[in-house]
Amino acid sequence: MEKHPDYRQLIKNLFTQAESLEFALPAFNYNDQWELEAIIQAAKAENAPVLIAASAAAYRALGVEMMEVLGRMAMRQQAAVFSHLDHARQFEECKAAVDAGFASIMIDGSSLPFEENISITRQVVDYAHAHGVFVEGELGRIGGWGDETDHPDQLLVQVEEVVRFIVDTGVDSLAIAIGNAHGFYQAAPQLDFDLLRQVKALTSIPLVLHGGTGILQEDLKKVIRLGIRKVNIGTMIHYRYTQGLKAVLEKNPETTDVIHLFSSAIIPVVDTIREAIRACNASGRAKLLQKV
Ligand code: G3H
Ligand code: ZN
Repeated sequence: MEKHPDYRQLIKNLFTQAESLEFALPAFNYNDQWELEAIIQAAKAENAPVLIAASAAAYRALGVEMMEVLGRMAMRQQAAVFSHLDHARQFEECKAAVDAGFASIMIDGSSLPFEENISITRQVVDYAHAHGVFVEGELGRIGGWGDETDHPDQLLVQVEEVVRFIVDTGVDSLAIAIGNAHGFYQAAPQLDFDLLRQVKALTSIPLVLHGGTGILQEDLKKVIRLGIRKVNIGTMIHYRYTQGLKAVLEKNPETTDVIHLFSSAIIPVVDTIREAIRACNASGRAKLLQKV
């Protein structure tokens, strides 16, 4: 494995800044190089730090190494961009990501019984930290993913599990289920702000909100005020991208110019990502990155 900077420390530094300046680090899912291109264009335009989060569906289809290569190229283009493996379920996936050179990984043991979640998260933390890689865990269960048949039910984070989970696993950040869900919401989500307050009072590690698509702007502002320090957004990117592709193809049904097709399709995606960056209060924050 190539020697890389201490990503874990760099990301921790960013979160320290996010805490004192009250912003959230946005994490955007990508499935291919064009979605990634849109994220980088938006991050540059907003001068924002972002996590580029390889979607579970994509790295399971294309391989962790392929996603890492794309991520590494993106990290070279913009200083405050870090590659993140999203929603890994197995130690082997996490190990492969660390070995490939990811800066950050999420081990999602939330579909497991509590003790098993602790145990797999601890195992991942031990390996990742030894290699300078940041680790996010999850408590509660964030439901709503059409492609995750074993993960359908939502379960709010249990306050009494929080401290033990953090202490026993050593995770660097924690995703919590507070009424948020993946994908488009049927109705505006009812976030449990009081639950967030309770969890925030128990820990100083960054708290993460998944299911950013469809969260109302005012709710997003409120959770950031209450202590959310990372917001994950995926579905909205894939939606705008596929809508963009459709629009270009409708205009040019016979086109064989795939570069024009994809580069035009991502124009509205860039705008959507820029809006999300601003909603996270993350514009202009790239300069805060402290080198270690
Ligand atoms: O981990 C990914 C995010 O939680 C994405 O959620 O697709 O609802 O925006 P979303
Ligand atoms: Zn998620």
